[in-house]
Amino acid sequence: MKNQKLVVLTGAGISAESGLKTFRDSDGLWEGYNIEEVATPEAWHKNPSLVQQFYNERRKAVLEAEPNKAHVLLAELEEQFNVHIITQNIDNLHERAGSNNILHLHGEIVKSRSTFNSDDIYPIKGWELKMGDLCNAGYQLRPHIVWFGESVPLIEPAKEIVSDADIFVIIGTSLQVYPAAGLINYTKPKIPIYVIDPKQIIINNMRFQIIQEKAETGVEQLIKILNSKI
Ligand code: OAD
Repeated sequence: MKNQKLVVLTGAGISAESGLKTFRDSDGLWEGYNIEEVATPEAWHKNPSLVQQFYNERRKAVLEAEPNKAHVLLAELEEQFNVHIITQNIDNLHERAGSNNILHLHGEIVKSRSTFNSDDIYPIKGWELKMGDLCNAGYQLRPHIVWFGESVPLIEPAKEIVSDADIFVIIGTSLQVYPAAGLINYTKPKIPIYVIDPKQIIINNMRFQIIQEKAETGVEQLIKILNSKI
C-alpha cells in the first residue's frame, strides 16, 4: 500500500512522552512564560537575551530528549505507506526517529538564521545561541523559529501535501494555532481522519475516528486499525 499517502500533523503532545513540555496543558510552557515576552518579534526587539535564554533552554531539553515509540512507529510506517509528517514542533525527534519527509511549520530549534536575511540558515553547534553570534554577513543570528505575529512560510507547501492525502492523522495538538489548525480544511472530502490525544474530544462527524490515548499507545492502536483495513 506504499502508494497510499498518509499525512500526519503533529503537535507538542507527540513529544510529551519524550519528556518535552507541551504548551497549553496545565503544566505547559505557556503557564510558566508569557508568550509576548519570549515568542514575538517585539520580545526580540525589547529583550533579545531573554528570548535567546528561553530558546537555549528549549534546545538543551531537546538535545537531552530521545524520540519515543510514537516517533519511531511513524518512521517505520514508511515501509507500508507514503508518509508525510507536517509538524508544528521545533524539536528534531521525528528526524532522529528516522522519518524522511518532514515539514517544520514553526521552524527548527537546532538551527539559527540571520536577522538580516531569513533564508540564511545555519545549524547550531551545541545548545547555546548567544548575542554576538553572527551570520557570515555580520548580522546577529536569531533562533530559526516562527514567532507569534510572523508569517508561516511553509504553510503553502503544507496545504499541498494535505490536499492529496488518502489518510490524515492528527497527533497531540490542541489545534488552537492558525494557520496550522486550518490544514484539516484542505483534506479531500471523504478521507478518514484519525485524531490521537489523551483528552476527550467530541466531534460529530463520521470521517473522524478519535483514539483517546497518549501518543505511544495511540499510534500503536492506529497501526492496528490501518492493518485491519489492508
Ligand atoms: P498544545 O500544548 O497547544 O497542545 C498539546 C496537545 O497535546 C493537547 O491537545 C494535549 O491534550 C495533547 N497531549 C498531551 N500529552 C499528550 C501525549 N502524551 N500524547 C499525545 N497528546 C498529548 O501544543 P500544540 O498544539 O503543538 O507554536 O501548539 C501549537 C503551537 O503553539 C506550537 O507549535 C507553538 C505553540 O505556541 C509556536 O511556538 C509558534
